[in-house]
Amino acid sequence: MLRLAVLISGNGSNLQALIEAFGSNQSAARIVLVVSNRRKAYGLERAKKAQITTLYHPLGPYKRQGQSRITYDLDLAHALKAAGVDLLILAGWMHILSAEFLGAFEGPVLNLHPALPGEFAGIQAIERAFAAFERGEITQTGVMVHRVIPEVDAGSVILSEKIQISQRDSLDSLRERIHSLEHRLIVQATAQVVDEMIASKG
Ligand code: GRF
Repeated sequence: MLRLAVLISGNGSNLQALIEAFGSNQSAARIVLVVSNRRKAYGLERAKKAQITTLYHPLGPYKRQGQSRITYDLDLAHALKAAGVDLLILAGWMHILSAEFLGAFEGPVLNLHPALPGEFAGIQAIERAFAAFERGEITQTGVMVHRVIPEVDAGSVILSEKIQISQRDSLDSLRERIHSLEHRLIVQATAQVVDEMIASKG
């Protein structure tokens, strides 16, 4: 049974999709830990309701004690390894993870990003796509799940899917369609990587 961890910063609707997909004991993987950098993240409530261990890991105390971002990242990597995590999923995690983190954690790290490969990297991707649509620059956007490398939102793509933007769309209606697609894609991509990891374990 592969051990999954999910990093969140907010509502956790994508976490909820993963809980529903990997919550039963029959699945080949289960979520053993949910980490949030924000105490009030509703996703922590979702994890607690599903009896999943949670970890609140804020950056503030490190900054106040003059400790580096790398120290914050390495403590996070060590907590994940201590929990025996095999596969890490970033579902709305709003920090950029350092190369040192990726070196220390060792396992695969997947990130969900609400844009197509190579487009609108970073925050506010949905809002920026809608603004580009309103300027007549694009007619479609999408969602991708990719492997995490030190460059932001740039690792190899596991799954991506396009969404056509129509004149009838508002920012809210587009956001709603993107989140629905995210919930499906994050589960499909995680299941695909879980299957690959199990197959490679032989
Ligand atoms: C998602 O759109 C994710 O792609 C972005 O932040 C949002 C998180 O939503 N990075 P939720 O917390 O999973 O509901």
